[in-house]
Amino acid sequence: MEKQAENSSRLVLVLYPFQGHINPMLQLGTIFHAKGYSITIIHPEFNSPDPSNHPLFTFISIPDKLLESNVSLSPADFMNLVLALNRNCEAPFQKCLKQILDGKHPHERISGVIYDGLMYFAQTVADALGLPGICMRPTAAAMLLFSVIPHTEQESVFETQIPELHPLELKQMLKSMSTNPTDAMTEVRAAALNATKRSSGMIANTTEFLEHAALSMIREYSPAPVFTIGPFHKLAPSSSSSLLQEDAHCISWLDKQAPKSVIYVSFGSMASLSKQDIVEIAWGLASSEQPFLWVIRPGLVHGSEGTELLPDGFQETVGERGFIVKWAPQQEVLAHEAVGGFWTHCGWNSTLESVSEGVPMLCSACFGDQFLNMKYICYVWEIGLRLETELERGKIQGAIKTLMKAALHGAPWMSSQSESYLFDYVMRCCDIKLFLPICDGSRQCWSLV
Ligand code: UDX
Repeated sequence: MEKQAENSSRLVLVLYPFQGHINPMLQLGTIFHAKGYSITIIHPEFNSPDPSNHPLFTFISIPDKLLESNVSLSPADFMNLVLALNRNCEAPFQKCLKQILDGKHPHERISGVIYDGLMYFAQTVADALGLPGICMRPTAAAMLLFSVIPHTEQESVFETQIPELHPLELKQMLKSMSTNPTDAMTEVRAAALNATKRSSGMIANTTEFLEHAALSMIREYSPAPVFTIGPFHKLAPSSSSSLLQEDAHCISWLDKQAPKSVIYVSFGSMASLSKQDIVEIAWGLASSEQPFLWVIRPGLVHGSEGTELLPDGFQETVGERGFIVKWAPQQEVLAHEAVGGFWTHCGWNSTLESVSEGVPMLCSACFGDQFLNMKYICYVWEIGLRLETELERGKIQGAIKTLMKAALHGAPWMSSQSESYLFDYVMRCCDIKLFLPICDGSRQCWSLV
């Protein structure tokens, strides 16, 4: 049952239905709810979150017609999925929002619509109904540089970028992003930018402390104000938003391990690996002689449960030293004292969660923004090691040993103040000032409290 918030203002949040986007949006909802707002979550039918985990919110599902649209759910084709969601969800969302407006409590005010940047149809509907729209970006703010700087200027801007951003190699990233963009990708980028221009602002899950240089540059170019309210998960300790069942047994197993001895291995919710990658990772972990907790989610290898691909003799070799789960309570895992390192695909949520707990990372970026996050981790913040793209057991073994040694004793490749840097960061997270944009009904007028 939804709890009625005291100031009778409601925010409508529109989810993009993938784990790495659902988590930050529901965390943001929790932050606003704590500030007195009632929260309505609108989501497509596909990958619906479980409302029973969030009794303070109202959940409304809208038809997405994805089955009829015949789009593939593979990450390689996800721009077509984004287009289909935007095409199919606009009319049902408008109908739903009108119903909310018609049926609202007489003293209630709809303050605005906060939508995931990929659900840009929500801005069009908000405009049509005279409501402010705010775009939530679940990636590093630096990714916004590729959308807010006009396309024709990007190359020259990235050439003369401020020194703090050099390690991100933005020009090189731009090249890899621009090589043969599909029609769908070009259409999504243009539509998302167009929506941003009409929005009342953008909310980024980041902090000035981590991304000061990128944020300064973004603010020069952004057509809308940018608010940094992150890291959301630290401000909004909320219940699980996992689409897969979290296996809590791994926590009891972690309880039995020595402090900082365990390497946690997870590649997030979308990345995929080959069968051979699983074999190389398995033998790399086995020969590292380090305790490990490994998430092999169904579909990590396309069309497979994953665990049946583990090589013969692997389980016998590692015995109790290894623990494998389909899905872990990741935040709890990273906060556990037994965890000394995180081998990650560098998704932005995983990155923030690891940084917040002071856990150094072994980085294997798989696609998109993960390459930029990897550069932040390894070359800007200097709290991680990069593992070459091709996974090979010997290199994995060596990298794990180096990382876990560094976790215990520090290392030359880690910033000399790395330990204190992480500690300092965690401290700042704790008393971070929450800038809450409050909508006063007009598009340009937001105040910060
Ligand atoms: C993707 C992109 O990689 C990411 O950069 C972007 O910002 C959002 O979309 P994803 O690949 O799923 O996200 O990675 P990540 O951003 O790390 O999000 C995964 C989330 O799932 C994290 O919040 C993590 O805590 C959670 N998770 C992961 C679990 O709860 N259990 C697991 O076993 C694995």
